[in-house]
Amino acid sequence: MAPPAAMEAQEAASRNAFANDVSAASHISRVTVVGSGNWGSVAAKLIASNTLKLASFHDEVRMWVFEETLPSGEKLTDVINRTNENVKYLPGIKLGKNVIADPDLDNAVRDANMLVFVTPHQFMEGICKRLVGKIKEGVEAISLIKGMEVKMEGPCMISNLISELLGINCCVLMGANIANEIAVEKFSEATVGYKANREIAEKWVQLFSTPYFMVTPVQDVEGVELCGTLKNVVALAAGFVDGLEMGNNTKAAIMRIGLREMRAFSKLLFSSVKDSTFFESCGVADVITTCLGGRNRKVAEAFAKNGGKRSFDELEAEMLQGQKLQGVSTAREVYEVLSHRGWLELFPLFATVHEICIGRLPPSAIVEYSEHKPNFALVEGSAQYY
Ligand SMILES: NC(=O)c1ccc[n+]([C@@H]2O[C@H](COP(=O)([O-])OP(=O)(O)OC[C@H]3O[C@@H](n4cnc5c(N)ncnc54)[C@H](O)[C@@H]3O)[C@@H](O)[C@H]2O)c1
Repeated sequence: MAPPAAMEAQEAASRNAFANDVSAASHISRVTVVGSGNWGSVAAKLIASNTLKLASFHDEVRMWVFEETLPSGEKLTDVINRTNENVKYLPGIKLGKNVIADPDLDNAVRDANMLVFVTPHQFMEGICKRLVGKIKEGVEAISLIKGMEVKMEGPCMISNLISELLGINCCVLMGANIANEIAVEKFSEATVGYKANREIAEKWVQLFSTPYFMVTPVQDVEGVELCGTLKNVVALAAGFVDGLEMGNNTKAAIMRIGLREMRAFSKLLFSSVKDSTFFESCGVADVITTCLGGRNRKVAEAFAKNGGKRSFDELEAEMLQGQKLQGVSTAREVYEVLSHRGWLELFPLFATVHEICIGRLPPSAIVEYSEHKPNFALVEGSAQYY
């Protein structure tokens, strides 16, 4: 038997080891992904590959699933947990065994201290309201959602909605990121936008970065989020051009004009928005990829090919199998802001896209608006103009 002094030392050592374990465990971050569509599933896959490698994160990644019954009669959540695949929104891709699908929102977020929001934007207000009082103190959030809410008092970015309803800090991640391409690990880039805390932004960068997904932090949360949101409106314009078979020069012109309106609109809304943000992945690169390949472009092309006679709702249901278009609702929301603030004439591309979507103008109007060219001098270099 060990002498009493040695036993005391041994006990103290094991008490210290226990205390160290507890303290280390309390510094380990648990991540929950709120959303499980096409991009939500890819985000879970990216994150899950990193939590296995990084000691500062718990291995398990929870993914909240808006439950649905598949044609086979099985619940989507059960199938994801059995096959490790989101057979509806990301078929053929293994998510990682450490991704656990959970249909119970409260349960999915209960233990998390890092929340990744990635649902179509129209559902976010309802989700946040359900989460009030259900999340841990000091939770950090990031939004991958492209879109905005328009309220009586003006436009509200989704990161802001999350921050205000839940009382938490919220970064954003946007970029030239067509989910299906990242799912098969083709190289791409993304931008994390943050307000003030660089350390938190670096933590998100660490959580998402892989050799095929290069993430850069930028201190301009509004600029990054507005880029991701507004480019879907430009993508509709590009789709109309494709449907009308107008060719590459026209499409490039529409992309350039669209990018210019994106920058002007963003700077009018938030004087802090930086020009340099538009040269990040979330800016010009996302405009290019969405106008070449995204779902908004694809459905807008079909809309123009049908001469505007089949509605976007009908085409969305037929062409996207449950996936949601963001561009049409964003175009309406942007239009509301423009008309409310008397800015319609400054943004002819944005205004025309909405008017085409609601059938007030034919798809061919997308190249006719140049007759009433905006005076951008009013906007550019003058973020004070309201
Ligand atoms: N897919 C992409 O390539 C891509 C890339 C970058 C960003 N985004 C953005 O990511 C966000 C999410 O898009 P996604 O592609 O993951 O989704 P998705 O369009 O593929 O799928 C729709 C999702 O919405 C869910 N849903 C349906 N009704 C709901 C309800 N009432 N409440 C809550 N959820 C409901 C469905 O279950 C499904 O998970 C969007 O803002 C989108 O703009 C998408």
